Amino acid sequence: MGRKALEIAGLPVETLVEELNRAYADEWLAFYQYWVAAQLAAGRAAGPVAQELKRIAAEELEHAEELARRIIQLGGRPLGHPRLWLEQSNCGYSEPPANPKDLEKMIQDTVHAERCAIEVYNRLANLTHGKDHATYHLVRHILDEELEHEDTFENML
Ligand SMILES: [Fe+2]
Ligand SMILES: [Fe+2]
Repeated sequence: MGRKALEIAGLPVETLVEELNRAYADEWLAFYQYWVAAQLAAGRAAGPVAQELKRIAAEELEHAEELARRIIQLGGRPLGHPRLWLEQSNCGYSEPPANPKDLEKMIQDTVHAERCAIEVYNRLANLTHGKDHATYHLVRHILDEELEHEDTFENML
């Protein structure tokens, strides 16, 4: 849907791009949080935990790519500086626990991030429903994967 069509549908493009950039910031922070946790994870159960963290980190990076593509299609610009990720994110960032053997804390932090992401994509789905089919389709697709992520991490606790 084009810019004019979106405006007619009552969804200012600037608002949509801003919201998509907030989600984009969340995805980069989730990617890095999971990725660095995977590098650090230590202790007996660390192998499988690190493997899942890496696998899901790669999916968060894919989400960032998909959002960047849509932001550009809408005439916007993905956030150009990592500083903006923290400033504009919805969900923030959890530093890995000081004790790299504390896998439970690591996993709890991921569950927290996934629950926040689910809220964000639910909100974005409501915002775009019936107004911007392409964005709606994208955020529904991402939402489905965030629901799977929450389930995967919950089952590791
Ligand atoms: Fe994601
Ligand atoms: Fe996720």
